Amino acid sequence: MIERPDSGERSLLLHVGLKRSCYADEIQEFQALSVSAGAEIAGEISARRTRPDPGLYIGQGKVKELAKKVKDVCADLVLVNQPLSATQERNLEKNLGVRVLDRNGLILDIFAQRAATHEGKLQVELAQLEHLSTRLVRGWTHLERQKGGIGLRGPGETQLESDRRLVGLRIKRLKARLESVVKQRELGRRERRRVRIPTVALVGYTNAGKTSLFNALSGAEVRARNTLFATLDPTIRRLSPGELDEVLLVDTVGFVRDLPHELIAAFRATLTETREANLLVHVIDVSDPHSDDRKRQVEMVLDSIGAGNIPRLQVYNKADRAKEFSSKLANIAEVNGTELPNLLVSALTGDGVENLAKVIRVKAVGESVFGRLELGPGDSRLRAKLFELKAVQSELSHDSGGWTLELALTPQRWKEFCIQEGLSDDSFQRV
Ligand code: GTP
Repeated sequence: MIERPDSGERSLLLHVGLKRSCYADEIQEFQALSVSAGAEIAGEISARRTRPDPGLYIGQGKVKELAKKVKDVCADLVLVNQPLSATQERNLEKNLGVRVLDRNGLILDIFAQRAATHEGKLQVELAQLEHLSTRLVRGWTHLERQKGGIGLRGPGETQLESDRRLVGLRIKRLKARLESVVKQRELGRRERRRVRIPTVALVGYTNAGKTSLFNALSGAEVRARNTLFATLDPTIRRLSPGELDEVLLVDTVGFVRDLPHELIAAFRATLTETREANLLVHVIDVSDPHSDDRKRQVEMVLDSIGAGNIPRLQVYNKADRAKEFSSKLANIAEVNGTELPNLLVSALTGDGVENLAKVIRVKAVGESVFGRLELGPGDSRLRAKLFELKAVQSELSHDSGGWTLELALTPQRWKEFCIQEGLSDDSFQRV
């Protein structure tokens, strides 16, 4: 058995373009996906085909070229940028003598490494099993699967040795467990709906800076990493105190072009948070030369999960790198017809983040209403609370010991306050 280097599996990348050569950004993205999965890129080969060969995906000549390169660079894994059928994967493995993994398998592997919550792990395992169940016929015993590695993490290691019946049983059990977890999550969502806290979901292409912006907006310490799909499970936070303490902010999984269908299904939880949000904040990396295309990809996924009609704010992040892209920024301003500074931020430096929080607040909770409240001498606790809520604009103390407070509160916050304090709605005179 060959020892695998700690630095990652030596991988040979195969970029196949259909009816055209692969675009540079597609190649870059596949490289980034491979590195995110922990691969060490040992070499790359490009190919072009009119249509996939049913048995091998690529032609015989290309297979020979690949086999030679596998030997030359001592690769132990071949990563293919297209979805392969079980037969194609198996045949390529036979011809090349090393494991072959397609793009969907690769994304599943990254998801398997990143899932952090119980629900996330169950969902990835289910998606992996469903992906594997079509591929159980192949014999992998010669391919050192006991050791784990890209595409072999999680259920693959033990379940591959089992037959389809066992995998089927495991899928059934996982589905049942997931159902109960999903029910619990649904209870949480219902509770939020009951108290009507508006939910704002950050969406965007992977690596756009959603988690960094989430941190900047919430002061939270959620890990941001320069790797694809660092966020898998939805992180939800009620922000307080500050501009956004009346909304729930949700950080979601990053999107990527052609997200495998089994994964869209698997990440129902994250996507449900997205689908039920009151406002979507679409985070776009302004320094990314392919941001227009990626923006469209995200919009397509949003449409396909039924989130296309939710009000959406477009936020251009990484403004600190924007100097080089000034002409592009001018274009964005023209197309949107919006005032650019509102939507241009840097999660890194914090520039524009406060302003963004204000815009989110107004979009999600509405403008504050202004009013007057009379408090008696015995109401000092209520007065303190209103100060805590930053609702007091000015106050007048009376000789009798009471106060007249000028307040600015959103209708939602006022309602919550009245319920908590047992006040009637009309104690607040609007001005
Ligand atoms: P996924 O979890 O993959 O969806 O990524 P994400 O969209 O949550 O991105 P994340 O916040 O993890 O940031 C990705 C990378 O971009 C990290 O290396 C961040 O440090 C970097 N980054 C985020 N915001 C900014 C910014 O405003 N300026 C610069 N220069 N880098 C940023």
